[in-house]
Amino acid sequence: MSEKTIAFPQDRTCPYHPPAAYEPLRTGRPLSRVTLFDGRSVWVVSGHAEARALLSDGRLSADRQNLSFPAPTKRFKGLSNRRAALLGVDDPVHNTQRRMLIPSFSLGRTAALRPRIQETVDRLIDAMIAAGPPAELVGAFALPVPSMVICALLGVPYADHEFFESQSRRLLRGPELADVEDAREQLNGYLRELIGHKREHPGEGLLDELIVRRLETGETDVEELVSLAAILLIAGHETTANMISLGTFTLLSHPEQLAELRDDPSLLPAAVEELMRFLSIADGMLRVAAEDIEIGGVTVRADDGVIFSTSVINRDETVFAEPDTLDWHRPTRHHLAFGFGIHQCLGQNLARAEMEIALGTLFERLPGLRLAAEPDRIPFKPGDTVQGMLELPVAW
Ligand code: HEM
Repeated sequence: MSEKTIAFPQDRTCPYHPPAAYEPLRTGRPLSRVTLFDGRSVWVVSGHAEARALLSDGRLSADRQNLSFPAPTKRFKGLSNRRAALLGVDDPVHNTQRRMLIPSFSLGRTAALRPRIQETVDRLIDAMIAAGPPAELVGAFALPVPSMVICALLGVPYADHEFFESQSRRLLRGPELADVEDAREQLNGYLRELIGHKREHPGEGLLDELIVRRLETGETDVEELVSLAAILLIAGHETTANMISLGTFTLLSHPEQLAELRDDPSLLPAAVEELMRFLSIADGMLRVAAEDIEIGGVTVRADDGVIFSTSVINRDETVFAEPDTLDWHRPTRHHLAFGFGIHQCLGQNLARAEMEIALGTLFERLPGLRLAAEPDRIPFKPGDTVQGMLELPVAW
């Protein structure tokens, strides 16, 4: 029986809900066929239990160099070399790379960064207050907070932030393939040079630590270190920035929930977790099957592409009651917005700390914060990249 499949990915209709066009994916079946831009048919997983099972199944591969790896966009497909550290490799290489970084992202190391995050957030809000309303919150706050934090953590000079933020923007959303290739080269060249400089003039930061403990000992080489630094730099600022901008927009669009949070700031960690579930900004984790897998009543064949739509998975009503409601009181720790299995987000402790401090302080220090434009006129990101606001005009 042939059935019309829907296209994937698609733009959201409302910035904080899954695209209306994904509705057929939410009606019961845990895996469905969808069509990519190039006409290829792949699986989309929408069931929570099936997603957890598949994301911890060694028969699914994250190897982006596999020719059958699914490409959600033309620019992804056209990349001449899709090799990416950590996220784009399988064990045992993945495990070796991840073990080098784990100590730097522990709960303890992240807790120690909290005063620095708070200082950064306070300084940026001071500057907004000094300049007076209105402000464009993405540029004035949502992007610089995680950018400054990841620079401090890695030991990358923040003075270079405009350079790497713009390369990373081109990498994730460049209009043309040439842009993406060029951005990757520019960013890698910059990191190669920075690592060379640090070998001569050691400083403080994760990169310096990795140079001393792993590079000079021969455990890794410059190219692997460049590729690890690139993923940390990009994942470290882009995703969290989107959570801060879209999180703020969502709170301002849900006055009741915002009032509840203001009355009881101890709800903040639960609110951050629920916003993670509700917004599911990394919507479309990618894998390819290395072998046949029976799951959810279907057979995923070797070489089939498999995509995890977190926005749909995190609204599976068999796991989350009234999933379309923003509710600070639900147990949401088992959402999949940070992924699941061996590739689960390495920076999640840091991201949680940044979101708590950024959102908590913003609403505490600017109690009159409000949108400075009609909500439906504020532009947000298209469906083929990490979700978030393109701009966020606010006043207070
Ligand atoms: C709220 C912000 C964030 C979100 C929503 C997010 C989301 C995710 C998701 C969904 C994955 C799994 C992808 C997959 O399995 O295909 C992931 C992996 C990863 N994230 Fe995050 N992330 C965030 C913040 C961060 C930060 C702050 C860092 C680093 C400083 C970071 C570093 C990483 C790395 C290195 C991986 C790959 C891990 C591996 O393959 O073992 N992320 N993230």
